[in-house]
Amino acid sequence: MSLVSKESGEDMLEVKIAPSLLAADFSCLEEEIARVQNAADWLHIDVMDGHFVPNITFGFPIIRTIRSLTDLYLDCHLMTTNPEAFLGEFAEAGANLVTMHVEVVSDPALAAKRVREHGLDFGLVCKPATPISVIGPFLELCDVVLIMSVEPGFGGQRFMPEVLSKVRTAREWVEERGLGTDIQVDGGISPETARLAIEAGANVLVAGTAIFGADDPATAAAELRRATEKT
Ligand code: DX5
Ligand code: ZN
Repeated sequence: MSLVSKESGEDMLEVKIAPSLLAADFSCLEEEIARVQNAADWLHIDVMDGHFVPNITFGFPIIRTIRSLTDLYLDCHLMTTNPEAFLGEFAEAGANLVTMHVEVVSDPALAAKRVREHGLDFGLVCKPATPISVIGPFLELCDVVLIMSVEPGFGGQRFMPEVLSKVRTAREWVEERGLGTDIQVDGGISPETARLAIEAGANVLVAGTAIFGADDPATAAAELRRATEKT
């Protein structure tokens, strides 16, 4: 993760914006991706299995199609009970990162090893009620730690400010241990909550409704970024 110096000389983290395709119009995915292509750093893809969460979204044919439409880093958030089952398929479809819920990964070290063997980056996710201490021992294995700020399963929910203390703790650990782990927040992100998440120590913001629900998704993504730059 790169540190960018502010004019004041104080270091601040470079913010990455990850639009969540869950809120895009699937009847014109190509246009939707083109709209955010230059304003996004990553594309966030929510994979749900109808078991870990009470919703079903998309799988490999759609990810393959998305890959054919963009060079953006594809961040696949696996809300599935058995996230290690299809790593070859995710790699083949063109994913770059898979993040798995720590609530269902029995051996994170083994999961990280398997993920890397497929040439993918690895991340662990915690639901709002899951303590960050569950991820702490595995921080060194993670490219990304995703702290959910809504219950996983649906877009358009309200941001839960009570998760900000977990973001602060994760950032402290990353700094103390000298790691480059990205700290991502997902759910209910708006310009106001983006600012709170960044102030707490996040550096990757996932946003669905705030970006694809806007008339101009690129402007909405730029507004999110700008909101985090205000001092
Ligand atoms: C929820 C998903 C989120 C969702 C965020 O389970 O993990 O990525 O798309 O949507 P918004 O930004 O609308 O809260
Ligand atoms: Zn997500």
